[in-house]
Amino acid sequence: MKPKDLIVPFGNERRVMIHDRIWHVPRYRACDEAFVFPGWHSPELFGNDKPVVIEYCCGNGTWIAAKAQQDPSCNWLGVEMRFERVRKVWSKIHNLNLDNLMVVNGEALVTTQRYIPAQSVQDVYVNFPDPWPKKRHAKHRLLQGPFINELQRILHPGGAVTVVTDDVDYSEQLIAEFAPFPSFQSAFADPFYATEWPNYGGSYFDSLWRGQGKTIRYHRFVLTAAISHD
Ligand SMILES: C[S@@+](CC[C@H](N)C(=O)[O-])C[C@H]1O[C@@H](n2cnc3c(N)ncnc32)[C@H](O)[C@@H]1O
Repeated sequence: MKPKDLIVPFGNERRVMIHDRIWHVPRYRACDEAFVFPGWHSPELFGNDKPVVIEYCCGNGTWIAAKAQQDPSCNWLGVEMRFERVRKVWSKIHNLNLDNLMVVNGEALVTTQRYIPAQSVQDVYVNFPDPWPKKRHAKHRLLQGPFINELQRILHPGGAVTVVTDDVDYSEQLIAEFAPFPSFQSAFADPFYATEWPNYGGSYFDSLWRGQGKTIRYHRFVLTAAISHD
């Protein structure tokens, strides 16, 4: 299967739908009112109750497809807003026969706020989120209060968020953004990141930045207590 073999049923559709391992989430709320999250165990999604692990900003899916292959005891969900990259994840799902991997074609915060139930996710990964390196663009970075608040809501207690970046400024910002959330504790002592994580797994951007000699920073924040969102 090649990425272009995907027959796109949603095209310009502005309605939420799940089709052939892709969960299509348009940004516009007006179009999704009829959609109800069916539950991770539903046949449309994973069809079982195994723990769910999400990788946001999964790009072409190299990292998550390898993880799904190595660890069939979990259900793996990639979230990626660029359709051309979603197609590449889709072809990996089919070529590697990964019935424990699905991909959301949607924006991370929108998808999470609308559909991901509280305390329903075991672990979250964000590998090389877009760095928005210009100061005036930093407000677009994903790892900020509203998104972290959502991660706190969807994780099971004891679950964790791992963020990997080569961008020093983003690393410092995200550490500061997690600080007002006392329920999240860094798994790494001060300065709250590691530069080595054996067997973490590689991705397109991981290879790109390592090839340029950049240092990679791994951050991990563990949710130590259940949060009530009544
Ligand atoms: C730098 S790439 C990293 C891709 C992949 N994780 C890797 O390491 O090769 C960032 C990816 O995040 C996606 N992305 C950025 N912001 C997003 C958001 N708010 N929601 C979903 N995907 C997003 C981009 O389309 C892009 O594919």
